[in-house]
Amino acid sequence: MGANKSNNVVWHSMSIGQEHRENLINQKGLLLWFTGLSGSGKSTIADALNRQLYERKYLTYMLDGDNLRHGLNSDLGFSNEDRVENIRRVRELSKLFVDAGIITITTFISPFKEDRQKVRELVKSRFVEIFIDCDIEVCEKRDPKGLYKKAREGKIKDFTGIDSAYEKPENPEITILSHKESIDDSVEKIIKFLEHNGYLVK
Ligand code: ADX
Repeated sequence: MGANKSNNVVWHSMSIGQEHRENLINQKGLLLWFTGLSGSGKSTIADALNRQLYERKYLTYMLDGDNLRHGLNSDLGFSNEDRVENIRRVRELSKLFVDAGIITITTFISPFKEDRQKVRELVKSRFVEIFIDCDIEVCEKRDPKGLYKKAREGKIKDFTGIDSAYEKPENPEITILSHKESIDDSVEKIIKFLEHNGYLVK
């Protein structure tokens, strides 16, 4: 898409960079990338995690799939092509947030391995992939937005897990079995991982 059209554009180096900003707010920019089926619990767990980090006085920001589709990504649907573009935009946006020094939490189904890999490569050592692993039967039973029902009735096409693929992560930093682990335990598991790996400096 547009990325290939930006010829004759030269990168401008700024005198104040990520490290300056991080020192100013005393934290490290980080991308906590949640992936999983619709209804798996991504947003719920991420919200609880966000609250914990906020209480510890970290500056965070959440980028949520449903919410971004109301604005920045409102022109995109759910074809494979549109999902790739959705994640491409979020990848670039997340990189800017991390560069700003912010602990960025994203909750997108992000069904394709290749797209998640591209995020990992862009954000490098500041990328943590969190797989919310939940059987589709459980997600469908929960069906918090009534979308599985509509998909089964053929009222929604290209629904992830039904007639659109979800490629499970092979080596995520963290896996949460959301139908077995409580929200509190899940948050604790993530925080422990971040502490043990030197991501939380306060
Ligand atoms: S992604 O596949 O491109 O990463 P994203 O996370 O932005 O998806 O949006 C997923 C959300 O859109 C779901 O949680 C659900 O509420 C809603 N949705 C609507 N239609 C679909 C569909 N066909 N497949 C999956 N989710 C859908």
